[in-house]
Amino acid sequence: MRSIAFLLSLVLLGGCASSKNAPDFRTQPSRASAARVSQREPTYKHVVAADHLIASQAGLEMLKKGGNAVDAAVATSFALSVVRPYSCGIGGGGFMLIHLKQHPRIKGLPRTIALDYREVAPSWATPDFFETNPQCRDDPDASTRGAHAVAIPGTVAGLLYALETYGTLPRDVVLAPAIRAAEEGYAVDADYIRATKSPRVTGAPKTPIFDEFRSTYLKQGAMAEGTTLKQPGQAAALRLIARDGVKAFYSGEIAAEIRKILKQGGADVSAAELAAYRPRELAPIVGTYQGKRVFAFPPPSSGGIVLVQTLGMIDARRAEFDSYDYLSSAQTHFLTEAFKHGFADRARFLADPATTEIPTLELTSASNTRELASRIDMNRVQPIESYGSRLPGSESSPKDGGTSHLSVVDSFGNAVACTETINLSFGSLVCVPRFGFVLNDQMDDFTTRRGKPNAFGLRQDDRNLPAPGKQPLSSMCPTILLTEDRDNAPVELVVGGSGGPWIITGTIQVLLDSVTYGLPASKAVAQPRIHHQWKPDTLRIEPEIADSREKVGAKEQTVRAGLEARGQSLKLGKSECVIQAIRRSPSMPGRFEAGSDPRKGGEPAGE
Ligand code: GLY
Repeated sequence: MRSIAFLLSLVLLGGCASSKNAPDFRTQPSRASAARVSQREPTYKHVVAADHLIASQAGLEMLKKGGNAVDAAVATSFALSVVRPYSCGIGGGGFMLIHLKQHPRIKGLPRTIALDYREVAPSWATPDFFETNPQCRDDPDASTRGAHAVAIPGTVAGLLYALETYGTLPRDVVLAPAIRAAEEGYAVDADYIRATKSPRVTGAPKTPIFDEFRSTYLKQGAMAEGTTLKQPGQAAALRLIARDGVKAFYSGEIAAEIRKILKQGGADVSAAELAAYRPRELAPIVGTYQGKRVFAFPPPSSGGIVLVQTLGMIDARRAEFDSYDYLSSAQTHFLTEAFKHGFADRARFLADPATTEIPTLELTSASNTRELASRIDMNRVQPIESYGSRLPGSESSPKDGGTSHLSVVDSFGNAVACTETINLSFGSLVCVPRFGFVLNDQMDDFTTRRGKPNAFGLRQDDRNLPAPGKQPLSSMCPTILLTEDRDNAPVELVVGGSGGPWIITGTIQVLLDSVTYGLPASKAVAQPRIHHQWKPDTLRIEPEIADSREKVGAKEQTVRAGLEARGQSLKLGKSECVIQAIRRSPSMPGRFEAGSDPRKGGEPAGE
């Protein structure tokens, strides 16, 4: 069977097994086979999976000191600002999903908190700004590069709020590993060099606003794999944050330098609006999948809604879905059609919930996902405009390296799934003088030009037009699953990723790989993947899936042929998302497996 041989080659270590003794994932989705494979997977009592080993180790250092998952997540995130400066950082924003089971000061647990510290639009950002402002209207890069790309950062406020409210360790202890990495430096890796080679980065105009970026992060074109990158400026910023907390960033010296460089680029941000930034706590979306509780991130994330909808569509046709071979054309077609429904809803309904009424409950309800599932035709695709929920309101209308996800579990039963972003690689390419960190280009996640796609090819509704203080819609999708559908069930899976809209489809596939197909975490994150975001109407698929062979009755064909026969339009290429997952070991009680996606070279750290 194609599915069996395929899984074998990817799952079993050492490549010594043959398809004869392969686990049949079609008929035994998770139990015996998963336990067998998991015996060879390292397990941990507490662990951090980030997309850089130094960052994972920063989190582990906190866990070893007796800190909890929030302490570890905050330390990991500050370290990522230094070691993945093109993916996230103190000039960006993020979402932290915290599942708290045990805490020395907090009663009434378990509780799950969706902490939103996404950037907000500055006061100059009116809905038609990018279409009418003389400096921006003829510059297609205005929302991705330079001062007008920059939204007010939320990461420092969010991380320190998380630490003070839900962490246990002091600020200076948690920031220490990041300061160390910035001062001592580290050897840049292949992924860093890949980020420096993007045409958006190499093609940045030779204007003074990009000077600091070019000298710090590109070494004026001399940066090579293995070069030691020290960041004394970022170390100074982190030291100030460790000493003075939030005010160091939002009203002290750092704030003054942020305002100065933005003004140099023509964007006025007042001291008052910087100082007014606050993170917010939101209620997570609560769903179920295969009888397990799912906690997902609510709007302004679109990820949580699309994830819960997709899982709902699968559960609605459970027996049929389970009968499809793993990564067969039938399973891939079903998932693709489900993604199209979810992304059509993303485009039509979703935006900042503070400014727009979002029908979250209706979109994610079992009755709605059943209805969407009933419209998946296993023989053919549908007219593109017909996808999505039939709710009132539905009639309206580059590669991302700028995001990073980390997953943490501690030995107290707590878990954190945290995704942070500066949007595209190296964000706006504007660095803050003296402090050296990169500012985001999150303005491009708004609908900056009506009817036009953003840098990820996403078409979005007018609900997502910019406005002062508003947050742009996001695809970030930090997710936590419990072993059963009850609040105090143990954590089974902590997952999320980076890669713009690919985050959502990648997170869903790794969740399916881990929970439905029983793959250990390190294998689940490495599996080949597919992606469809409704528009453009293209199924992006890794060649390992498209070129594999399957049997349909007496006939043998490629998966590609099976998909094309149903009307899918394929484009082969590498998956553009990077996933970090932690899964409860099915064979080692109380221990966890961890996987950092090999696509970015990260590694987990645990004990
Ligand atoms: N900037 C990527 C996202 O939030 O979706």
